[in-house]
Amino acid sequence: MALYVWQMCLWKVVIIFTLTEAVSLHLDQPKVLLVSFDGFRWDYIHRVPTPHFKYIMENGIHVNQVTNIFITKTYPNHYTLVTGLYAENHGIVANEMYDQNLNKTFSLDGMDIFDPVWWDEADPLWVTNQIQGHKTGAVMWPGTDVQIHGLYPTHYMIYNISVPFEDRLAQLIDWFRGKEPVNFGLLYWEEPDRSGHDLGPENPLMDKVIADIDLKLGYLVEQLQKAGLWDTINLIVTSDHGMAQCSINRIIELDLYVDRELYTWIDFTPVSAILPKKGKYDEVYNALVNAHPNMTVYKKEDIPDRFHYKHNVRIQPIIAVADEGWTINQNKTAGKFTLGNHGYDNTIKSMHPIFIAHGPAFKKNFTKENMAIVDLYPLLCHILGIDPMPNNGTLKNVQELLVAEKVIITENLHVEIVSQDEINSRGSYAWLGILLGSVLVTGFLLAFVQQVTKSQMSGLNIHRGEMAQPLLST
Ligand SMILES: *[C@@H]1O[C@H](CO)[C@@H](O)[C@H](O)[C@H]1NC(C)=O
Ligand SMILES: *[C@@H]1O[C@H](CO)[C@@H](O)[C@H](O)[C@H]1NC(C)=O
Ligand SMILES: *[C@@H]1O[C@H](CO)[C@@H](O)[C@H](O)[C@H]1NC(C)=O
Ligand SMILES: *[C@@H]1O[C@H](CO)[C@@H](O)[C@H](O)[C@H]1NC(C)=O
Ligand SMILES: *[C@@H]1O[C@H](CO)[C@@H](O)[C@H](O)[C@H]1NC(C)=O
Ligand SMILES: *[C@@H]1O[C@H](CO)[C@@H](O)[C@H](O)[C@H]1NC(C)=O
Ligand SMILES: [Zn+2]
Repeated sequence: MALYVWQMCLWKVVIIFTLTEAVSLHLDQPKVLLVSFDGFRWDYIHRVPTPHFKYIMENGIHVNQVTNIFITKTYPNHYTLVTGLYAENHGIVANEMYDQNLNKTFSLDGMDIFDPVWWDEADPLWVTNQIQGHKTGAVMWPGTDVQIHGLYPTHYMIYNISVPFEDRLAQLIDWFRGKEPVNFGLLYWEEPDRSGHDLGPENPLMDKVIADIDLKLGYLVEQLQKAGLWDTINLIVTSDHGMAQCSINRIIELDLYVDRELYTWIDFTPVSAILPKKGKYDEVYNALVNAHPNMTVYKKEDIPDRFHYKHNVRIQPIIAVADEGWTINQNKTAGKFTLGNHGYDNTIKSMHPIFIAHGPAFKKNFTKENMAIVDLYPLLCHILGIDPMPNNGTLKNVQELLVAEKVIITENLHVEIVSQDEINSRGSYAWLGILLGSVLVTGFLLAFVQQVTKSQMSGLNIHRGEMAQPLLST
């Protein structure tokens, strides 16, 4: 009987190894292409026909309300997409920053954005991806032309607004199909943000801009299909923020309340970052705190916890947050005014981005109501099989977007749903599995022949059915 039990064990082990191999040998290196259409508000898809967005939603997933991070600006949110960290933790707290410790300024208008010191507080996914042995291709995604922790993406394009979408995409596809292909691609496109600022989101002329993005998405799908990548790539299309309608009738003029000489205006609108001159903190705060009903003024230490926007030297001692659609300027003509803007409270719906995805990792025709954008990072790591860095996201919150992963049949035919990570780690032992499996099969056959011979000799009646039964029960 001991021999019989031993044989059962062998059977199970063989089955586990064989099935594990079958699964892992079918797994390519998982691939992700992350696309950002800057300023693509969550509801733009409902405004004009967007057949290509709908195609991806019906054959993939869609999250209706995605809460991005405060402040709802381009650089902070793009860095969150690839780090899973709030702005106070990744260090890119605004598009315009001043760091008192460094005595340095970060401004989108200058070369200082290439200084690694601004980015080194976090490890973006491309850096981690490369450290863990993979290759990245990045096209104009904020931060991908900066040397972060000593690394550039394996392949990247220097930011150049004039490079057409088609050329950016063609470059990325080449990297996915190269001799040493990338597993992770990032693609950035400036629209519909630019037009959203210039025209205002309520302008009917925006319809054409949105329809054009839909065409670009269609072109992207078509090119991935032509390149033979469509069936294996996990495509995620999202954005950094939405857009709110502004008006010259909704301008808050700081000059009406406080003398310019008393502070440095670090960041402008709709979140003003205010650095009072030495000894002028109380005066500036008191002048502004109740100045305008549509501007909320916080001392740094009183910024609400839900913003996760406090614990960083790059956040200034006073911030003033405008209500949706309001603009903060020094006077009516000083500072930027645009008909559309973003940066407001991240709970305001108009600030929320689109989020759709398609690919082997994702369910089909599945809609999820809410998601926090910090949860994208652990999801990306999971799909790519990368160990995540510490972050503010939670994979569990977004796991329902994924297919029920791979089924592995184990002892007693229990069906076990295992994660991609686990398959990857089991997969790396595939050869060991094959070797062990072969040895065990041979061993089993020998034992089986011996057993059958023995049972025939002793006249004991061992049914084959009995041997299979323990495997099928429970
Ligand atoms: C900060 O840098 C500026 C030049 O950019 C310089 O004038 C100023 O003295 C520096 N401040 C401190 C505190 O080092
Ligand atoms: C930016 O791209 C355009 C279009 O491809 C090209 O003509 C131009 O030379 C590029 N500029 C720089 C600085 O590389
Ligand atoms: C602006 O402030 C007024 C007065 O408090 C308020 O009624 C209105 O809702 C505010 N506007 C926005 C967009 O919050
Ligand atoms: C508004 O600010 C600009 C730039 O600082 C200045 O040139 C202009 O004189 C100011 N206008 C008024 C009405 O104060
Ligand atoms: C997607 O689901 C909706 C309802 O949830 C259904 O009406 C539609 O036919 C489905 N589309 C596809 C392509 O399966
Ligand atoms: C966000 O993540 C960072 C890194 O793990 C951590 O230091 C920070 O406390 C987290 N923030 C919150 C609000 O959990
Ligand atoms: Zn913008």
